[in-house]
Amino acid sequence: MKTIAEYSSDVELAIRSLGLPGGKLSSLYEPIEYGLSAGGKRIRPVLVLMGADAFGGNALSAMTPAVGIETFHNFTLLHDDVMDNSDLRRGRPTVHKKYDENTAILSGDTMLTLATKYVATVDDAKLRRVLDTFNDMALRVYEGQRMDMDFETAESIAVNDYLEMIEGKTSSLLGASVKIGAIIGDASDKDADLMYEYGKMMGVAFQIQDDWLDTFGDSATFGKPIGGDILNGKKTYLYVAALAEGGQTADALRAAFNIPAGEMRIKAVTRLYEKLGIDEKCKKAVGHYSSKALKALNATSLDEEKKEAFRKLAEKLIGRKK
Ligand code: IPE
Ligand code: IPE
Ligand code: MG
Ligand code: MG
Ligand code: MG
Repeated sequence: MKTIAEYSSDVELAIRSLGLPGGKLSSLYEPIEYGLSAGGKRIRPVLVLMGADAFGGNALSAMTPAVGIETFHNFTLLHDDVMDNSDLRRGRPTVHKKYDENTAILSGDTMLTLATKYVATVDDAKLRRVLDTFNDMALRVYEGQRMDMDFETAESIAVNDYLEMIEGKTSSLLGASVKIGAIIGDASDKDADLMYEYGKMMGVAFQIQDDWLDTFGDSATFGKPIGGDILNGKKTYLYVAALAEGGQTADALRAAFNIPAGEMRIKAVTRLYEKLGIDEKCKKAVGHYSSKALKALNATSLDEEKKEAFRKLAEKLIGRKK
């Protein structure tokens, strides 16, 4: 197997060689190139390539589907940034800010269809399984995104509600990425499902880390503004962990979120999280779900060397600062 850096530079190259139409249609396709270019970690397509490689497939034949998965991810980001009113991603203006909202909607739609086309380039014998996995995943993402928005105005969200939401919006894509790779590589159904579980649990850890970075990260490295989730009233892991303490803590949390959206609210909520040791709770949760991911990985029929490659990826994601 190659290193993670090698897989991701292969993906980068393939994305740069997409050759989308220009000319009259550049107002449709240029925002797609802008959205897809520079700065992404490329975790999901790397998972596709690693899955294909690990189960004895040809990583080259997995490249177009892998680019499809990254295109799908970036489509969700175009729309997510409209929904979350986010101005910055990967250190640059988001598509709806650089262009406008209509552009984010339509170029996003176009990316979804391009993504499906790229994913559907798999061999006919595998097409049905791959497309079923892809479409089921896409529905889970939309369901999770809907919950994420509904939760903004909900008062009491339990940790389990939160987990259900992020398993939709984030984990399902990480799970499907590695599962599609595994199917391309000819994995057994059992192994493909175990790899899905590995990706899904990594996705849970990944989203908790994303929530943590949104409050405690460094904006320059993270590439997104700090405090956006607090301004939007997002029910992040930080929020649900604090709320779960109940009593006066829950009252204090609600009071802090009642401060008008602005710097004052960010400061008050952050200070409360610090006082409650939410930072430690996040770290523990990230560790907990990562070890679940590794448990599923260990149960596959992969040899030690291949398992080690997937462990390395999990380790890299746990400690991520961007
Ligand atoms: C952002 O995903 C959306 C989440 C699920 C948190 P990434 O953090 O993988 O974003 P990029 O592609 O590396 O920018
Ligand atoms: C990520 O949710 C899920 C999707 C984009 C589908 P976030 O809203 O937390 O992602 P960021 O923080 O904007 O990247
Ligand atoms: Mg969002
Ligand atoms: Mg967002
Ligand atoms: Mg986030």
